[in-house]
Amino acid sequence: MKDDEFYYPSEEVVKNANIQNYEKVYKEAAKDPVKFWEKAAKDLTWQKKWTKTFDDSKKPFYSWFVNGKCNIFDNALERHQKTATRGKIAILWEGENGDKRKLTYKELYNEVNKFAAVLKNMGVEKGDRVAVYLSNIPEVAITMLACVKIGAIHSVVYAGFSAQALRKRIKDAQAKIVVTVDWSYRRGKVICLKKIVDEALQEDCESISHSIVVNHGKEKVDFSSPRDVWYHELMKKKLPVPKTEVMDAEDPAFILYTSGTTGTPKGVVHAHGGYMVGVYRTIKWVFDLKENDVYWCTADPGWITGHSYIVYGPLMAGVTTIQYEGVPDFPQEDRIWEMVSRYKVNVLYTAPTLIRLMAKYGDDLPAKHDMSSLRILGSVGEPINPEAWKWYYEHIGKNRCPIMDTWWQTETGMNIITPLPPVPLKAGSAYRPFPGIIADVVDKDGKSVEVGKGGFLVIKGSWPAQLKTLYHNPQRYIKTYYDKIPGGMYLTGDLATKDKDGYFWIQGRADDVLSISGHRISNAEIESAIVSHEAVSEAGVIGKPHPVKGEIAKAFVILKSGFKGSEELIKEIKLHIRKTIGPLAVTEEIEFVEKLPKTRSGKIMRRVLRAKELGEELGDTSTLED
Ligand code: WTA
Repeated sequence: MKDDEFYYPSEEVVKNANIQNYEKVYKEAAKDPVKFWEKAAKDLTWQKKWTKTFDDSKKPFYSWFVNGKCNIFDNALERHQKTATRGKIAILWEGENGDKRKLTYKELYNEVNKFAAVLKNMGVEKGDRVAVYLSNIPEVAITMLACVKIGAIHSVVYAGFSAQALRKRIKDAQAKIVVTVDWSYRRGKVICLKKIVDEALQEDCESISHSIVVNHGKEKVDFSSPRDVWYHELMKKKLPVPKTEVMDAEDPAFILYTSGTTGTPKGVVHAHGGYMVGVYRTIKWVFDLKENDVYWCTADPGWITGHSYIVYGPLMAGVTTIQYEGVPDFPQEDRIWEMVSRYKVNVLYTAPTLIRLMAKYGDDLPAKHDMSSLRILGSVGEPINPEAWKWYYEHIGKNRCPIMDTWWQTETGMNIITPLPPVPLKAGSAYRPFPGIIADVVDKDGKSVEVGKGGFLVIKGSWPAQLKTLYHNPQRYIKTYYDKIPGGMYLTGDLATKDKDGYFWIQGRADDVLSISGHRISNAEIESAIVSHEAVSEAGVIGKPHPVKGEIAKAFVILKSGFKGSEELIKEIKLHIRKTIGPLAVTEEIEFVEKLPKTRSGKIMRRVLRAKELGEELGDTSTLED
């Protein structure tokens, strides 16, 4: 890390930024964060104003905008119906094969209202859960917004998860309905998502009454179950538009499952009030959105980045958001740059893994396209290495677009440590906490570490878009985030350092969670998938650095007696992981071993496996059994 080289914003960027007088704002917010967030909340529509902005009497279960009444649907769609935004394009959709769809704010509003009526008519009530297993098509946004409108809680599951993983999540949330699509398209292949849903519903999903299927492909699908219904058939019905449910600020809007350090995913719960305030304020300031902006976040709606910064954020801000179903380097390697140029994208938000891939393809690809429309660039998902940062800055931003390296998590709901356009940047640093947020780097006793020393990244106090709890598991919420170090701080699970200028440098996860191409998946989840294979007795999974993907998974496997390691078996185990978790958990390397390093209490020491694999020092091995 090079921490004394600054990249300064142009005068123009500073002058036009939505955030003015940054240093003053930052200092004032640090003195009184609650006042800062109260002011931010006033930019949004509320049915009834809150009586208390912040309540920490039940900490670590914090409440924001107590007794306030609102609905995020009002802010994402309803309020634009009274202004010129109504006629503006809300969603620009493009398929990998070049198919296109456009939805204005008015059209999107109508679709959402219609689908809300459909859900209501099928018996979905306030507080009911709806599972969503869709590709990146406008129906994801329509479903999410229809749910929140009627007070239902959506649980979107990334379509890269397998049937078994989907089943786990449906079962945990006890979802009433699942919304899916017949076919999805990726890298020239068609994938039958409906079939994956059918497989998931084969057992343990009695809570599901209907599977609503969007017709997106041309190929036929099996439609023999009485629970199957076509989305377009339902949408033809003339039903009264249900009223928008008046929600308490603290009422849940959605659940999003994410990986923790154990094999069971955690259901992160976000509520209407604080979430909308945090997401709106950050998207307006970090991405500096202006009325006529075309904004493209390349994430998938199945992750938090998609929730906050493809669906809710841009819609609340009233801009045009791009949804692209497909991969950014298909059919040509420069597909992404061609699209940026064709749609005249102003703000591009993507991931380091993609930037590294593009850098590998070469500088001449972006150079072929006119990308002068770009104003702000964003990065998220994993630490961005200085080389990738510089390539992005130079070849995409042409040395004039600030890069917003936003550090945050499913749990934080919104950007937490992030630059803002008017601040001086350093290549590879996520800058400082957003105004109104207090973060620090501490040791295991909760004490701030010295400048330049590594430690645990923590957040002190609360912030509006903080997760409320883990779905029906408040104990796990406390245990995961508040029990490991003293001082009542939120433990992020990441390691970081702070430099002499107060800039944060995120170093990656401290716990056993991997980031493969920016996708968060835990070592334990992959291990338990491997161990469920009939030939396997034990497995230890580690992350290995990878130049494009950031990290890849490698598994060390002990076979049961009677089984012999072979190429064939490796293939079989890989397929088994795919089936159990999904293609996102791809484990590139599998090695058969006789023994695994363990503690005396029998826990596999992944740290030792990793050190051996990478040829590093073993460190403290006093707890090693053998
Ligand atoms: C990592 C994604 C470094 C981090 C929004 C975090 C990052 C995890 C950054 C959360 C960044 C995300 N720099 N690391 N800018 N952004 N991370 O829940 O390890 O899918 O804890 O949320 O991604 O992943 P999640």
